[in-house]
Amino acid sequence: MCGIVGYIGDKEAGQVLINGLRRLEYRGYDSAGVSLTNGDELCVVKRPGKVAALSQAVQEEPGSLRQHRVGVAHTRWATHGPPTQVNAHPHLDRSGRIAMVHNGIIENYRDIRAHLEQKGHAFDSETDSEVLAHLIGDYYQGNLLEAVCAALQKVEGTFGIAVICQDEPDQVIAARRGSPIVIGVGKNECVVASDAAAVVAVTQQVIYLDDNDVAIVTPGAVDIRDLNNVPVNREISELEWSDTSAELGGFEHFMLKEIHEQPDSIRNAIRGRMDFDNGTAVLSGLGTTPREISEVQRAIIVGCGTSMNAGMVGEYAFENFADMPTEVEQAAEFRYRNPIIKASDFVLAISQSGETADTLAAVREAIQKGAWVSGICNVVGSTIARETGRGIYLHAGPEISVASTKAFTCQVAVLLMIALKFGRCGRLSCTKGREIAKAIESLPMLVEQVLERNDIIAKEAEKWVETDHAFFIGRGYQFPVALEGALKLKEISYIHAEGYHAAELKHGPIALLESGIPVVALVNEAPGKEKTIGNAHECAARGARIVGLITEGDTETAALMDSVIEIPKCPDYVAPVPMAVALQLLSYHVARLRGCAIDQPRNLAKSVTVE
Ligand code: M6R
Repeated sequence: MCGIVGYIGDKEAGQVLINGLRRLEYRGYDSAGVSLTNGDELCVVKRPGKVAALSQAVQEEPGSLRQHRVGVAHTRWATHGPPTQVNAHPHLDRSGRIAMVHNGIIENYRDIRAHLEQKGHAFDSETDSEVLAHLIGDYYQGNLLEAVCAALQKVEGTFGIAVICQDEPDQVIAARRGSPIVIGVGKNECVVASDAAAVVAVTQQVIYLDDNDVAIVTPGAVDIRDLNNVPVNREISELEWSDTSAELGGFEHFMLKEIHEQPDSIRNAIRGRMDFDNGTAVLSGLGTTPREISEVQRAIIVGCGTSMNAGMVGEYAFENFADMPTEVEQAAEFRYRNPIIKASDFVLAISQSGETADTLAAVREAIQKGAWVSGICNVVGSTIARETGRGIYLHAGPEISVASTKAFTCQVAVLLMIALKFGRCGRLSCTKGREIAKAIESLPMLVEQVLERNDIIAKEAEKWVETDHAFFIGRGYQFPVALEGALKLKEISYIHAEGYHAAELKHGPIALLESGIPVVALVNEAPGKEKTIGNAHECAARGARIVGLITEGDTETAALMDSVIEIPKCPDYVAPVPMAVALQLLSYHVARLRGCAIDQPRNLAKSVTVE
């Protein structure tokens, strides 16, 4: 979604800001802008479309602009008003001396706008953000910090903002409520950003703002207050990511790079967390004792999109390894339907970014109701990771492509480890625990074997170029993988794709089948395999083309399919990982052959920070 960068220091601010915006491009956006000041002037350059267009426009500005040492910049993902130049950020106050960039949504902006219009304010854009810029200007009496605090006390909704003022060119003011802000603290310089990806090029020393923090950012120093201007302490932490981890490294797309990183990212996710002697997992991040685990009555897993699909794999593992009644719920639904939650419930929030608005709200609801709440996040220091206070990091490294790949497989690996640990605190035997631990350990190798089949999968993709519709079917552990395979295909190739439980097709979706429509059947060695093969045949009888994801060497099943992709032989509870990797590659090659914008698909954002 929207991206913020602010800079103050001894470098050319315009250059640092544009570089920062480039590193936020992966989040998805439709316009971009920058504002710079040197105290004598405050200039704004905005463009619809890509950062490259903005960069070009900044180059064409008079030379003095390049000397400026302070500024703010933004990539906008339209919510209020279309992605036009006028709706792009930064927005100015009425005087034109204050510029602000904003992520989030000001819910009471209509009331504030009406109030300001009565006072003579006129607005150029349709955005809620411009209203906030005007409100700050309306309060301004020579002290930007005080004006920002006063304005933010009046707004309802969410914000991450960075503000500069021509009359106070020695600072950037940043603040947050519900929308992340991280501040990189370098030598004689600071970067404000909505995402650490925009900070790593400058420094790895960062401060994360909490809700209702306001920061006065000067070259190399940060002073944080609450909205009443009372100082608060926030620690400096070190980013795990290096400057090069967000680069393509020779791959054509970040998605392909991240697919290939999976053996290593899974190794990182499980490193130091397996106890093979005792057949269990060591997960100190959960911050709990075996006795507390044994008192848990129910697990509730919440997440959105791919993270929810991973959660569904987790549901099977919790039930099979730990006899734990488990529910998986779409986070937005969970937050609003007043769920029945007890202190004996274990609520597990899954989020790659750790910033997804609905998952965060679900976490807050569960904490409020007294459950034990943990997170599985990738982004260190993200809001969900901090608010849950305990949980497991994936350590997958930055996931840049909008389509989630390595986060999914690491989430599954972590869920299997948590289920194993819960099982071993209950009735799961040591022998069975060791067997599961060994299977989890084998995941990187299984993925490597699928990656070796890249050429076969690319060949299969050639048959999909003209496809309009596709179906994915599976049972048991492979049912969520069918959902994930369909999600991946639709988001990057724009082919209409649906995932179903194999038994569900006959209850309606089979009416959609026409000659040549591909149906991907996930048929590894698992209970229900023969039934899924039967369901695939029902589709074939209606003209569908059946692509089987089958176990390596299963010639009998292969003979029943129109084409096959083999995955290595493995227990069904770990098979979601190699299966998902095969489907990631299939989606990638189909989207590539169709000429799609793979890393930044239309209409999508990497991190969905609004409802
Ligand atoms: O950052 P999160 O894991 O909370 O994100 C959840 C979804 O928005 C995300 O998984 C989305 O579905 C991806 N685009 C899927 O590839």
